[in-house]
Amino acid sequence: MSPAQNIYDDDEFFAAYSGLLRQQIGLDGAPEWPTMRAMLPASLDGMRVLDLGCGYGWIARWAETAGAAEVVAVDVSEKMLSRAREFDDGGRIEYVLADVDAFEPTGSFDVVVSSLTLHYLTRLDAVLERLASSIRPGGRFVFSCEHPIYLAPAEPRFVKGDGFSEWPVSRYHVEGERRTEWLGASGVVKYHRKIDTYFRLLSGAGFTVTDLVEWGPSAADLEDHPEWTPELDRPMILLVGAQMGPVG
Ligand SMILES: C[S@@+](CC[C@H](N)C(=O)[O-])C[C@H]1O[C@@H](n2cnc3c(N)ncnc32)[C@H](O)[C@@H]1O
Repeated sequence: MSPAQNIYDDDEFFAAYSGLLRQQIGLDGAPEWPTMRAMLPASLDGMRVLDLGCGYGWIARWAETAGAAEVVAVDVSEKMLSRAREFDDGGRIEYVLADVDAFEPTGSFDVVVSSLTLHYLTRLDAVLERLASSIRPGGRFVFSCEHPIYLAPAEPRFVKGDGFSEWPVSRYHVEGERRTEWLGASGVVKYHRKIDTYFRLLSGAGFTVTDLVEWGPSAADLEDHPEWTPELDRPMILLVGAQMGPVG
């Protein structure tokens, strides 16, 4: 297996990423967070929580505040983890420097969460198989990833014309590696997977999918954030909630 790209440890990329609103102000700057929060248990009291691709640790710290007894936060980037540790006031979060593609969770978790990271993984099938034996029956797995319509095109971009804005989709059925330009870096490696592939891999690993949302702004969102209007033209983020084992 080739090693993870770890673009987040590149100085220029990290500086550009640090300027994003969601990194400046945390979860309040992540428009999809209320949707993701709603897929997570109402209370995390006493739970063991695993955050895959924790970045600055916003969700790990939220989980701690929401009552989790233990939080394990994994990321492949030393810079991300060091920023996460700076924000931490020495609570119940264990930070682990690891490639999620190879990470072996220990013990049993009640909740596994992953925000905008799974599209960097090469072997999602193997990762899900390992997670399946690390989440207790009935435990939750909630993740967001780049939506396949956003990630699939050979040239992901809006095409604008007189009164229209389009996001041409190509190579949708050709899954696998995509190299994109993002935050000034070229050749950022991500992996395109179709929605039915996510579903098949989750089901195959023993999860029951309970929630699926293609995030887009509501009319109320747009009143507060008119700058989100382009998000009406294509979905950027897919959110999935799943339970380990059968429901009911
Ligand atoms: C878009 S950021 C999201 C960070 C955080 N979850 C959030 O929502 O703010 C993606 C994160 O995934 C991490 N990452 C990418 N590939 C990874 C891998 N193979 N193993 C572990 N972490 C990875 C990056 O270092 C980065 O911190």
